[in-house]
Amino acid sequence: MEELRIEGGARLKGSVTVSGSKNAALPALAAAVLTGGAVLRRVPRLADIDTMCELLECLGCRVVRRGHTLRVSADDPSRTEAPYEIVSRMRASICVLGPLLAARGHARVALPGGCAIGLRPVDLHLKGMEALGASISVEHGYIVARARRLKGAHVRLAGRFGPSVLATANTMMAATLADGRSVIEPAAQEPEVVDLAAFLRGCGARITGAGTPRIEIEGVSALRAAEHTVIADRIEAGTYLLAAAATRSEVTVTRCRPKHLAALVGALREAGFHVDGADGAVTVAPGGRRTRPLNVVTAPYPGFPTDLQPQTMALLSGADGTSTITETVFPQRFTHAAELARMGARITQEGATAVVEGVGRLHGTEVEASDLRAGAALVVAALSAEGVSRVRGLEHIDRGYEDLEGKLSSLGARITRSAV
Ligand code: UD1
Repeated sequence: MEELRIEGGARLKGSVTVSGSKNAALPALAAAVLTGGAVLRRVPRLADIDTMCELLECLGCRVVRRGHTLRVSADDPSRTEAPYEIVSRMRASICVLGPLLAARGHARVALPGGCAIGLRPVDLHLKGMEALGASISVEHGYIVARARRLKGAHVRLAGRFGPSVLATANTMMAATLADGRSVIEPAAQEPEVVDLAAFLRGCGARITGAGTPRIEIEGVSALRAAEHTVIADRIEAGTYLLAAAATRSEVTVTRCRPKHLAALVGALREAGFHVDGADGAVTVAPGGRRTRPLNVVTAPYPGFPTDLQPQTMALLSGADGTSTITETVFPQRFTHAAELARMGARITQEGATAVVEGVGRLHGTEVEASDLRAGAALVVAALSAEGVSRVRGLEHIDRGYEDLEGKLSSLGARITRSAV
């Protein structure tokens, strides 16, 4: 087991380059099953990407990695099973469902199990495939989907907690090879969906409307392999901006798209920080002597991202006043609150709202990450805290942050990884 030792209180300074987006790279890699292959650039080096590569190999694909470029060729179309051993490690494995069904006519995908951030059902994925004419059953913990050729349809993907990002991706991928025209409504508008659509268009798909609540797809008979450069990881970028804010530092994140960070930039300004975003970079700097409290409500894009909620809670734990954070995407996503409390945070929960009473300064201690972004929140908290923290549960953090301690060290953080 490993842990991060973080000596809090160091001012960060300088600039940090954002990696490619994990959440854009994962469905794009799955899409290689659909297109027969892909060359994807700016793919981050992360445990989740390794897991997706392992899954692709199970599905008869060959994956060659050189640095941040992955070359995938789908060689054996007879393989159609995503085993539980892999799906249970990474829920995003479900995004092979649409590609397998559309390109190979059959898919057997393990049902993902529980998850630290809530129940996370897959009904919308199944609804999407069914609407396109697939026959679906759930047998012994596996989704079994069949279709000779999918048929274009009007797919209504409204969920209880808003549109689903990966169900939109799955349905869009499946519809690219369907017979006729499909409409997905309401579609998730996340930049990762837009990036996937751009990649698929490069492979010959006919998709319009990605980035709006209505995506239209005109089915084609085949797609071809293509090259694509994955967009910047807005959640990684946001995490570094929040780490800078929590330590009251001036930091620039580079090679990102400021527009994708608009909700966070708005919140940081409201909290009293100076934020400038232009030309693929965002700079944050303290505006005054205190961090003002906020009322944050997470929502699907372009709303405030749920994947930045835990890190924001870490920032607001040290604010001057009482904040509220309401989760509308994953109402149970507050497991990090108890660990932040071990660092002195005062947080109570009322339904899907956390009330965060700012305490000025957290104090370092041992904490354990329960999931990826909860882990990032603990790192943000530890950087700002007084004294030394030891963060465990790094297997979660390593799923989504490429070279976290290297990047933070380059900004002047006192952070080291060691075996325990
Ligand atoms: C993606 C992101 C994840 C992010 C989330 C919301 C990836 C790999 N992961 O996850 O980091 O936190 O978007 O921005 O891109 N839901 C249903 N039925 C379904 C599917 C989802 O009810 O079939 C619910 C979920 O439980 C949740 C909400 O819809 O309450 C949104 O989830 P969804 O957008 O599907 O998340 P993912 O796509 O799994």
